[in-house]
Amino acid sequence: MSKQAKTKSPQHRVPLLELEGLATSFFTQRGEVQAVRGVSLQISPGKILGIVGESGSGKSITCMSILRLLKSSGKIIGGKAMFEGTDLFTLKEEEMRQLRGNDIAVIFQDPMTSLNPTMSVGDQVMETILRHKNVSKAEARARTIELFELVRIPSPESRLNSYPHEFSGGMRQRVMIAIALSCDPKLLIADEPTTALDVTIQRQILTLIKDIQARMDMAVILITHDLGVIAEVTDRVLVMYGGLVMEEGRVNDIFANPRHPYTQGLMASIPDMSGKRQARLQPIPGSPPDMNAPPTGCPFSPRCEHVRVQCSQELPPLYGREDANYLVEGQSVRCWLHHSDAPFVEGVNSPDLVQVER
Ligand SMILES: Nc1ncnc2c1ncn2[C@@H]1O[C@H](COP(=O)(O)OP(=O)(O)OP(=O)(O)O)[C@@H](O)[C@H]1O
Ligand code: SF4
Ligand SMILES: [Mg+2]
Repeated sequence: MSKQAKTKSPQHRVPLLELEGLATSFFTQRGEVQAVRGVSLQISPGKILGIVGESGSGKSITCMSILRLLKSSGKIIGGKAMFEGTDLFTLKEEEMRQLRGNDIAVIFQDPMTSLNPTMSVGDQVMETILRHKNVSKAEARARTIELFELVRIPSPESRLNSYPHEFSGGMRQRVMIAIALSCDPKLLIADEPTTALDVTIQRQILTLIKDIQARMDMAVILITHDLGVIAEVTDRVLVMYGGLVMEEGRVNDIFANPRHPYTQGLMASIPDMSGKRQARLQPIPGSPPDMNAPPTGCPFSPRCEHVRVQCSQELPPLYGREDANYLVEGQSVRCWLHHSDAPFVEGVNSPDLVQVER
């Protein structure tokens, strides 16, 4: 590999990407769909950030906005995306195109639709390398073999000439990962990369991503519906609902002490909080908000068992440890129950939750 494990430097602590107040809407015949309504996040090199939330919560559109790969009706209407000090939202399209696939790579859910069925898998990886790097064809081929080894495709040299339909779903996803890694990205965005695969293969692919991420000191944003995956693979987690961040923090803290009623609803769907889980999200009673006309106040208010008058009138801010001392460092929660005047609600704003060893 041309890029072996990098040494960790003080730079490690500087965020690679800082997204601030992202707002993205779709302007459709039915009116404005407010898909993302002010999302901020940070990610540093060598870290994995998980984004979790029900369908329609804005996970993919947040990432598509960072990549500036929105459908034409989608517009970024607010916010900044500082990547190594440059706001991605101010780059020219050509500069952004250079960055995509070079510094920032993406893997989607369905490798069959992302791969070209008429081209061999080897050619598809080589094509990406030749487009982005100033190398000869022979060098691109050698690099492709290295990448196939890295993503553990058996007999890499002889598989270069295979076509996507000759590969299983798991192997196709490995090819997609090889394409994504071909230019040594600093940030990999993986949008439900294993949802289409069976459980054993899912685990293999996620272990592979985590292993490669650590070796390459790459930052990864991993979108998933699966809280088990979040628990096992990520460092921090961001819980989204109604186009907003509802709760954020270190994975261990959020799993030990979820403080948002929505996060608690998600966690309640996990049968075994300490074991190796396969659990997927169970629907919480009620439906997610219509983003054509999201509720004025807390978007979770129509489904929340603790709802109060103020909740449906005004959007709560994100509260942190400086507002509520039972929250842990780096945890933030968008719920009125963390206001200093809020009534005591057992399990939500009580200070006595137990740290769970994971
Ligand atoms: N092309 C589009 N036109 C109009 N609205 C859209 C479009 N794409 C997404 N949306 C809306 O934006 C909101 C956020 O969608 P997004 O795809 O980010 O959800 P998600 O959290 O990734 O869900 P899932 O888990 O199902 O992938 C949803 O309300 C969705 O209906
Ligand atoms: S702000 Fe109100 S409705 Fe929203 S989660 Fe908190 S208690 Fe529930
Ligand atoms: Mg999605």
